[in-house]
Amino acid sequence: MFKPKVILILSLLLSVYFQGLAQRNQIVLNDGWKFSKGTFADAAAPGFDDSKWQSVRVPHDWAISGPFDKEIDKQVTAITQNGETKPTEKTGRTGALPYIGEGWYRKKLILPAVTSTQKVLLQIDGAMSEPRVYLNGKQVGQWNYGYNYFYIDITHGLKSKDNVLAIHLNNKPKSSRWYPGAGLYRNVHLIVKEEKSIDQWGITITTPVVEKGFAKVNVKTKLTGSNLRLVNQVLDSSGKQVAVDTTKSFFGQEADQNIRVSEPRLWSPENPYLYTLVSTVYDGDQVKDIVKTRFGIRTISFKANQGFSLNGQVRKFKGVCLHHDLGPLGAAINVAALRRQLTILKDMGCDAIRSSHNMPSPEQLELCDEMGFMFLAESFDEWAKAKVENGYHLYFDTDAEKDIVNLVQANKNHPSIVMWSSGNEVPDQFGAEGVKRAKWLQEIFHREDPTRPVTVGMDQVKATMQSGFGALLDIPGLNYRVHLYEEANKAFPQGFILGSETASTVSSRGVYKFPVVKAKDKQYDDFQSSSYDMEYCSWSNLPDDDFVMQDDKPWVIGEFVWTGFDYLGEPTPYDNSWPSRSSYFGISDLAGLPKDRFYLYRSRWNKTKPTLHLLPHWNWENRTGDTTPVFVYTSYDSAELFLNGKSLGIRKKDKKSPQNRYRLMWMDVKYQPGTLKVVAFDAQGKPAAEEKIVTAGKPYKIVLTPDRSVIDADGKDLSFVTVSVIDKDGNLCPTASQQLKFYVSGNGKFKAVCNGDATSLESFEKPTMKLFSGKLVVLVESTVNPGKIKLNVNGGGLKAAQTEIISKVK
Ligand code: GAL
Repeated sequence: MFKPKVILILSLLLSVYFQGLAQRNQIVLNDGWKFSKGTFADAAAPGFDDSKWQSVRVPHDWAISGPFDKEIDKQVTAITQNGETKPTEKTGRTGALPYIGEGWYRKKLILPAVTSTQKVLLQIDGAMSEPRVYLNGKQVGQWNYGYNYFYIDITHGLKSKDNVLAIHLNNKPKSSRWYPGAGLYRNVHLIVKEEKSIDQWGITITTPVVEKGFAKVNVKTKLTGSNLRLVNQVLDSSGKQVAVDTTKSFFGQEADQNIRVSEPRLWSPENPYLYTLVSTVYDGDQVKDIVKTRFGIRTISFKANQGFSLNGQVRKFKGVCLHHDLGPLGAAINVAALRRQLTILKDMGCDAIRSSHNMPSPEQLELCDEMGFMFLAESFDEWAKAKVENGYHLYFDTDAEKDIVNLVQANKNHPSIVMWSSGNEVPDQFGAEGVKRAKWLQEIFHREDPTRPVTVGMDQVKATMQSGFGALLDIPGLNYRVHLYEEANKAFPQGFILGSETASTVSSRGVYKFPVVKAKDKQYDDFQSSSYDMEYCSWSNLPDDDFVMQDDKPWVIGEFVWTGFDYLGEPTPYDNSWPSRSSYFGISDLAGLPKDRFYLYRSRWNKTKPTLHLLPHWNWENRTGDTTPVFVYTSYDSAELFLNGKSLGIRKKDKKSPQNRYRLMWMDVKYQPGTLKVVAFDAQGKPAAEEKIVTAGKPYKIVLTPDRSVIDADGKDLSFVTVSVIDKDGNLCPTASQQLKFYVSGNGKFKAVCNGDATSLESFEKPTMKLFSGKLVVLVESTVNPGKIKLNVNGGGLKAAQTEIISKVK
């Protein structure tokens, strides 16, 4: 016989166990997927033989393995928004990777025991594209837009065992203006919860009052079930409870609680403080559901003559636009890769991201909350009028509203999001119907989220000034068109303008062209653009032109530069030139390596660390005696340049000249090999910092620099190892182009490689690649086994190198 004490302990343990079972269980379906490209009449059927299909891990992008092919999605078209009037053959517009066609994913669902009082939801964070979801042979759900999140209640289609999930995807040709990726490229979740519980995306947290000393946190909770009790606890970032509220009264199916948080710590990019709301649903004494939601306490306002304020402080957006691909990983989301992008942007001083031109991944938003980036979350690149033959216009009338609803409902609690965008350069900017659509969409956003304003990235500024399109928006966003800022600001009634897209300056990392001249749509035989940062598009401008606007016009509320990183597809100015297959717009290249322009933005944006950067490189074998301009991007006001010890003079930033206001330039330097040195002066004119570049000798040795040498043993984490080459004296060889090979051993895998060359047709997934401008990046992935991982790199007659990465259980 058990003693009473033992019985008590046992029953306590059992009740904790059953309470645990009753609660929500969220499983990410990463493993055990089978995949095949192609058309199969019966692939949805449970008994279908998929044993010959590829075994894959989701997130998965079926097209990133390549090969690149000029014929894929070749578009013979005139890109009218780029001012083209005659159709030409566009190769590489969508990345020249095999994303078109049908694909199937299948998986046996291993479910925890589901009781008769439970519900099972399947949530897909984005699937490219037109996902059709089948359970045990029957279609249970579908969505058209490949970028959006949606969930389906699959409870009634489930059998007690042997459930088979099948997802069909279809990518049409000419459906995109950039590389969209292909497949289940984001996470798929299974959510098992009680019927009596909080609805999916049912919690809305806002902070309507933020005062010195306290904040009012409003929590609206949608629930299913009657006679419930809801407890909402607010925890600070250390997990300590700072406020709690219990309610039994509901307004229909919704609870509405106002919770006072004393001495709130505010969220900002500089101090991204996060609270957690723990919502617990009780039925009597039984816990039915627990949901944890991270949120921030902050205020935003957009006002005429004052601009944008965060927590009462006026500031301008130092933002970048990002497409969703992660270079050599394609569209498949990866937290380590997203975090690395944000780490690079943070160092640049960037404080905002625009998810051009579609819904961001949940992981990217989580990271922006945590790391401190404000977010402009966009929805569409097309409304009812087409940009590409099979673009979103096909679905606009039927789907736009539900797409916005899901965008807002899934993301409304992220403090990082400070505005929504209903569109980018939509051709509907012309005509009365377009004005109606702009109003309709904005009102859907307002209905779903009354706390954040809405913008549209407008390029047809004159048309939108006349039609009322621009006037009705909460935030008039101008894409480029700096010459129209003044006029637009006078015409529009908001009293401020956002540079929703700026610069579109093009460059190739480490490539410099002579003579150095400002030029539009400049092309060269090698299909590269110059890193002197003087080349841009017919519709765009140099970064310096944006800086003038940002600095001199208080009513300009900031900018989002096109783009933070190079992306796959849209190889302007080489849209017609094969083998160009990725963009030249990035401040950093496709491998994430900073181009020179990174330092130009850093010199303005990073207020905590100084910047002093010299360009070009100093290895010009055939240019001795030739004019080789030298630029310095720096946060200091003036600097002196020395070549082989001889002063070439002092340059000072000149407010009156747009060319010399942000860059220090020595235009008539005659090249001599040796040492180029710059000494920067502080405000008192005293030397404060120096930088030098030395002409390198023959490439001699490989050098490996991991971004992180300790990673998680979770089978997904990545170390990004930069590979460079030095001469015998340790000088970086900036033009090295040797073919290298990579070997990973121990508890890790070779994942991918990228050199940032927009014309390279080498596979990202084969362990060999040529250096581009002396560098490339190898991605090493952990396994689930902790331990040592070794990366060896050799080739090109160079002294080989090895680095060790440790993978640990988190
Ligand atoms: C903009 C457009 C972007 C990209 C960019 C290139 O007009 O919104 O998606 O195409 O031009 O400069």
